Amino acid sequence: MALWGGRFEEGVDDFTQRFGASLPMDKQMYAEDIAGSRAHAKMLAHQGVISADDAAQIDAGLAGILADIEAGSFAFDINDEDIHMAVEGELTRRIGEAGKRLHTGRSRNDQVITDTRLMAKRLCATLMEGNIALRKVLVQVAESHPGTIMPGYTHMQHAQPVLFAHHMLAYYWMFQRDFARLAFACDQADENPLGNAALAGTTYPLDRRMTAQELGFGGVTANSLDATSNRDFLLDLNYACSVGMMHLSRLCEEIILWSTSEFGFITLSDGYSTGSSIMPQKKNPDFAELIRGKSGRVYGDLMALLTTMKGLPLAYNKDMQEDKEGVIDAAGTLADSMRCAAGMIATMTVHEDAMLASARKGFMAATDVADYLAKKGMPFREAHAVVGHLVLLCEKRGIQLEDLSLADLRAESDLFEEDVVGQLDLRNIVDARTTEGGTASAAVAEQLERVRETLAADEAVLASR
Ligand code: ARG
Repeated sequence: MALWGGRFEEGVDDFTQRFGASLPMDKQMYAEDIAGSRAHAKMLAHQGVISADDAAQIDAGLAGILADIEAGSFAFDINDEDIHMAVEGELTRRIGEAGKRLHTGRSRNDQVITDTRLMAKRLCATLMEGNIALRKVLVQVAESHPGTIMPGYTHMQHAQPVLFAHHMLAYYWMFQRDFARLAFACDQADENPLGNAALAGTTYPLDRRMTAQELGFGGVTANSLDATSNRDFLLDLNYACSVGMMHLSRLCEEIILWSTSEFGFITLSDGYSTGSSIMPQKKNPDFAELIRGKSGRVYGDLMALLTTMKGLPLAYNKDMQEDKEGVIDAAGTLADSMRCAAGMIATMTVHEDAMLASARKGFMAATDVADYLAKKGMPFREAHAVVGHLVLLCEKRGIQLEDLSLADLRAESDLFEEDVVGQLDLRNIVDARTTEGGTASAAVAEQLERVRETLAADEAVLASR
């Protein structure tokens, strides 16, 4: 019979028991559940609600259960329904009478949300660590190829040349913002809901600040109804994971493209590629594809929880038991994907020549040639048309802009002089984009300063948790 056996004459059948159980999922919160119970018992004794002797027995009993779970010698039983009942039931079997006093002034409704908040904080910390490791790899790759020029694209068409380092650092900033989202989710989880009991608070003189301190929460929740039914911090975490996966998916898409024969910009290391069972020549970017594909399930986790929460009246409803599986999946998927992406990028070979050769195609000097004319006094719209015409000429002749003679250029405008050659040089074109945040080598060097500052600041944020 369940812990609430007093009011019942019969239990549920085996199937229904399994259907209603959350143990297979929430046993992952065993450490948090035991920490919450130890803090609660200590506080109950401090407040004179239970005796010091009972508290000591409870604490020792819980420590023993923790050790057994960690040693793998604890046999979970589905009849316990969830981790809270598994631990409390076992405690009472081990220490008897004192174990039955642990649940004084507490409900599984404040217990589960305490555990879940602690778990969310743990998941956030792991993800923030993985996020920093990934960003360090991007910085390292950017720094190892400081002068490498590649085509910059809009609409997947050659647009203007950029530094490969600049391109990699664009991803650094996406992941930097992901870190901020994870830190926000962590902050949202950082209030102690313990002591709100089932929904309304309790008649015992509980010290919620004391359990907050014991459990490392930064504060206590303000409203018992909200506290026992709030799952927003999990949505924040699922959202942070979703955006993180979206960013990884974009990066992986580029890695997949870059490793095609058409691009040939990179070669993935063998450790991050797979072969084909039939085509001996194949080297497939499976892991990049898998990361790209896994974004789907993480978005699904976010949508699932949003939908579960929609329309729920105050306060706790059993629907909320559905909250944990998705967040564990989302956080695990993002952590693994970041780790895989970091390894893949750290070990890929960058083909600088192929990038440069590609950058020479597609008339990417066109904007700069138009700017050249505009700086000599021609209205920019007119200059745009002149250069457009030159591009058309090149296409007809099958040549690039730099292959045109000065006579060809002057036939379109007599503003062209010898010095136009400088405007056609890819390195000059890149290095002329000196605006803050631009792709010029000098601007990228300044950007790297900001990169290092944010890395140091984020590492400090992580260390302070
Ligand atoms: N297993 C439940 C969950 O995960 C714990 C809380 C259950 N509370 C209740 N009154 N049924 O949400």
